Amino acid sequence: MGTASNLSKVSIFFLVLFFFNIFVNEKPFKEKLTHLHFYFHDVATATNPTVVQVAAAPNSTGRIRPFGSLMIADDPLTETPDPSSKLLGKAQGLYSSVSQSQTTYLMAFNFVFMEGKYNGSTLSIFGRNSILSKVREIPIIGGSGVFRFARGYALARTYAVNSTTFNAIVEYDVHVLHY
Ligand SMILES: *[C@@H]1O[C@H](CO)[C@@H](O)[C@H](O)[C@H]1NC(C)=O
Ligand SMILES: *[C@@H]1O[C@H](CO)[C@@H](O)[C@H](O)[C@H]1NC(C)=O
Ligand SMILES: *[C@@H]1O[C@H](CO)[C@@H](O)[C@H](O)[C@H]1NC(C)=O
Repeated sequence: MGTASNLSKVSIFFLVLFFFNIFVNEKPFKEKLTHLHFYFHDVATATNPTVVQVAAAPNSTGRIRPFGSLMIADDPLTETPDPSSKLLGKAQGLYSSVSQSQTTYLMAFNFVFMEGKYNGSTLSIFGRNSILSKVREIPIIGGSGVFRFARGYALARTYAVNSTTFNAIVEYDVHVLHY
């Protein structure tokens, strides 16, 4: 009698395990690799600039973005280099001039997307941007929404920069792994 009920307990246990297994396997966590391509508009000189300098080291006046300066940006991300092309999102964050020998920024940004399935999702990027290099690689360190658990890298290439206004258009290729 005792043996029989132990047997049925064991079979119920395996039955539960079996269905639990099916349930778990029905929703596998599958990693995706996504490539995003857009243009970043850093507009320093305009009636409504998208980037502002909020701090600078003493005695650094007269230089553009000197060592120690800090910029805050809410830069449009568009489909093509044309600033009036489709708005795909915003780059909200800050960058700081951190090299005494060449123009290099520390970048700390959230890219917030506004289109289709990416609407409302963000990618967080943090890294080094040596702006005179042809291609700069900046790590993607996280994300939200469809980009939860994100990691990857962004490749930044200067498309155009005006040496008078310092307005810049930068092409971004982002490769990101997420679920
Ligand atoms: C700026 O530089 C001048 C000349 O070298 C110096 O006298 C002054 O103390 C400096 N000011 C600051 C705030 O560092
Ligand atoms: C993105 O989401 C916001 C808020 O939910 C909504 O107002 C907007 O229309 C959406 N945009 C697109 C292009 O789907
Ligand atoms: C840079 O901006 C200035 C001021 O808006 C403008 O006059 C000039 O044509 C621009 N230069 C280039 C190369 O676009």
